[in-house]
Amino acid sequence: TRPFVVSAPGKVIMFGEHAVVYGKSAIAGSVDMRAYALVTPSSGHSVRLVLPDIDVDVEFDVRQLPRLRPGDLAHPGDVETLLAEGIDVPEGPGRTAVLAFVYLYGSLVAEAGALGFTMCVRSLLPVGAGLGSSASFNVVLSAALLQMTGQLQGEGATEEDRRLINSWAFQGEQVAHGTPSGIDNSVATYGGFLEYTKGHGPAPLHSTHALRVIITNTNVPRSTKALVAGVRALRDAHPAVVDSILDAIHNISVTAATLFQAPEEAAGGELERQLHDVIRMNHGLLSALGVGHPSLERVRDIAAGHQMASKLTGAGGGGCALTLVPRDAPKGAAARVAAEMADEGFCCHQAVVGGAG
Ligand code: MEV
Repeated sequence: TRPFVVSAPGKVIMFGEHAVVYGKSAIAGSVDMRAYALVTPSSGHSVRLVLPDIDVDVEFDVRQLPRLRPGDLAHPGDVETLLAEGIDVPEGPGRTAVLAFVYLYGSLVAEAGALGFTMCVRSLLPVGAGLGSSASFNVVLSAALLQMTGQLQGEGATEEDRRLINSWAFQGEQVAHGTPSGIDNSVATYGGFLEYTKGHGPAPLHSTHALRVIITNTNVPRSTKALVAGVRALRDAHPAVVDSILDAIHNISVTAATLFQAPEEAAGGELERQLHDVIRMNHGLLSALGVGHPSLERVRDIAAGHQMASKLTGAGGGGCALTLVPRDAPKGAAARVAAEMADEGFCCHQAVVGGAG
């Protein structure tokens, strides 16, 4: 068989971070900074996984890898316990990626007999920035292995193909993160926008909108766990106030879901004007919850200086922000905004949210 490429996008949380922890609705969208896997089949018993962005280059003899049948493991993360002596899994950030690979290979390929190949995955997504880099890796990995073993319907993923890819990618995410919500792998598989509520899982929205944004990584490190705990402490101290903030954020997500599902012709510039308002308000509400940061206010000020709205995305306290670039923004405005942000030491990517999975 011939070499082939599969790819999957990253994700941004558009609205509803933190509130989602309390059962409120959140909206995420795909971001066209993608992971790409190039798979080169070979004869023999060797598989090689190359992830240059995280410094991984490992080679396995496939006869050494565990074969996994459904029910063999209580949790996908337990795959580590099955590794035979002499199988070399790196330490560091690449470790979970390699373990997910071993799990998915063992589940999807081992039964089909030895299948040698080299898989090289490159990603435009920064690692650990809340943009879903691990989920897009698990989606391309699952899609590639399913493709190689003839389990997909064919050219372009069908609805059933996507369901299959997504369920395996979710298991890869479980290897990496224990109990992920499933939001990241769903966005990477289906693309577009989706609504997520705890306990209900991700629901793709019927949207054809694509938004121009600037994703700004402030490079300020933060702990999601500490930020989530901080919101909880604030809520314990001021339940009525914090609950009304969380409800306001929920209503923003509900409003956004309606906007995204409005027909494109009808919505046009009006959609962007309304999004501008809710982005601005959502950021203010997150700041009120104590998850802002001076770097994020700097991003917001620079954007506001160009009549653009920004909000933090993800856990806050630094990390990433997104800025909506309206369609009618003056030519070159996005580049000027990005340059001003870069002058502050932030990393900016001009991107499109809502594109294909
Ligand atoms: C972090 O990306 C999103 C939070 O809402 C935490 C969570 O949902 O687990 C802050």
